[in-house]
Amino acid sequence: MAARKAAGLGSPVQVLAALLAFYAAAIFGYRILLRSFPLREGAVEAGRTAFAYCTYMLLNIFVFFPVMQSSFPMPFPFRRLFYVLLGMRVGRNTHFPGIVMDPPLVEFGDDVVIGFEAVFSAHVAEGERFSLMRVRIGSRATVGARAIVMPGVTIGEGAVVAAGAVVLKGTNIGPGEFWGGVPARCLRGAPQGEIDEASGLPLARLTGRDFPVKVG
Ligand SMILES: CC(C)(COP(=O)(O)OP(=O)(O)OC[C@H]1O[C@@H](n2cnc3c(N)ncnc32)[C@H](O)[C@@H]1OP(=O)(O)O)[C@@H](O)C(=O)NCCC(=O)NCCS
Repeated sequence: MAARKAAGLGSPVQVLAALLAFYAAAIFGYRILLRSFPLREGAVEAGRTAFAYCTYMLLNIFVFFPVMQSSFPMPFPFRRLFYVLLGMRVGRNTHFPGIVMDPPLVEFGDDVVIGFEAVFSAHVAEGERFSLMRVRIGSRATVGARAIVMPGVTIGEGAVVAAGAVVLKGTNIGPGEFWGGVPARCLRGAPQGEIDEASGLPLARLTGRDFPVKVG
């Protein structure tokens, strides 16, 4: 206590309150920036748009990324709230330990399962070319641990992306399909067979196999 006072630090509660106030102010500023310069798909051209995007990226890198890291001690419901505040669309019952680099351009449907440290990015940086492409993850899809989902990827309802897969820019994964590997390839098409009435998906969708796995 004495050492903390000598160092000019407040109590743990004061430090936490200061951190919360700092992040509330940062998110507020970020939302104003997004409202003034909404992120749009396509090339980021030099000029005001590029300046706004650089400011947005600096905020992300220095302020928000440390919180996005999976090692940051934040319970899942708060993580979801954090991303929603950053402009991401997240469906019902979707909680995730992954890292989303451009929240306003990433959408998760309902009941999506995301593995530990899966990464989603909507920005393409290739030499001097910089552009943005939306990422869409359909309801009930599964993205395994440490998978990397690149810009412009669409993952259909109930599809499975295996752990460690790298899903390349612009890939379109169909509903119920099973993809894996580096780069990710379709390992199995959508399973046929008995359909679950509630979700409209094949009962086998959880494993991608052609045998019934009861849903719910
Ligand atoms: C994708 C997954 C569901 C497949 O499980 P499964 O249906 O039991 O499939 P199998 O283990 O029998 O493998 C089926 C095929 O996919 C391949 N495969 C499985 N996992 C793979 C992976 N991560 N990367 C590449 N290929 C993979 C297997 O080699 C096998 O190929 P083959 O048919 O040519 O022999 C599972 O491997 C996986 O990655 N689950 C995600 C787990 C996860 O990340 N959970 C979150 C933790 S926080």
